[in-house]
Amino acid sequence: MNIASIRERKGSGQKITMLTCYDYSFAKILDHVGIDMLLVGDSLGMVLLGYDSTVPVTLEDIIHHAKAVRRGTKDALVVGDMPFMTYQVSPQEAIRNAGRLMKEGGCDAVKLEGGTNAFNTISSLVKAGVPVVGHIGLTPQTASSLGGYKVQGKDLDSANRIVEDAMAVEEAGAFALVLECIPAPLASFITDHISIPTIGIGAGPGCDGQVLVTHDLLGMFEGFTPSFVKRYANLLPLIKDALRSFINEVSDGTFPDKGHSFHLDEEIVKNLKWGK
Ligand code: KIV
Repeated sequence: MNIASIRERKGSGQKITMLTCYDYSFAKILDHVGIDMLLVGDSLGMVLLGYDSTVPVTLEDIIHHAKAVRRGTKDALVVGDMPFMTYQVSPQEAIRNAGRLMKEGGCDAVKLEGGTNAFNTISSLVKAGVPVVGHIGLTPQTASSLGGYKVQGKDLDSANRIVEDAMAVEEAGAFALVLECIPAPLASFITDHISIPTIGIGAGPGCDGQVLVTHDLLGMFEGFTPSFVKRYANLLPLIKDALRSFINEVSDGTFPDKGHSFHLDEEIVKNLKWGK
């Protein structure tokens, strides 16, 4: 996948699939099954690092995980999230930090949150040669100013503000746009009018693609899971069962058995010496 092939999906009838990915093992699996875009999302702050928001995540955190994802990816497009305060201070700082995500982290593109307020930043990045994915609606880095993790754009004024955000991101030159936690008809309206692909998360079926947090989709995360997440598997009980079996078998001596041990000729065993 590349930027052009993502853009070409718009109106082609073929939906874009995007999932979060934070490490080499998952990158290999997601890439192998044909996920189009892997997002090294700042959700790793909650899912991997145990923070209660994405705010503490650093550029170094994303670079560290992006490097591993890059090593495990052959076909998918790798997108690195720009953490809180790595792109807000000035367009120059945003360019420097996005450059590090691409040069050190191996990302093909970056994602950042914001609409009209991010217009200058996105257009400066695009002019500097950085492919950008926008992110509007519920923007987790500033969720507290939006009244928490809530559906956005439910009344006419706020819905129209989200439409203006979408127009700004498109005009600034982003090649795709994440729409998070907005009513499905609003996401469909934006998708029908905008020239770049929309990728929804909690934004209904009308978007050009869908993104989810992989650990939510697989049922591997015990923290809060939003109602728009569909669990395609419930791996946590399976993982816990396997771990309890390991504890039990080590305790009662049934692991390791002969099949999981290396053998030594009886003669050698008999002649082993302890000391001189
Ligand atoms: O960091 C993340 O996982 C995201 C998705 C919610 C789109 O930004």
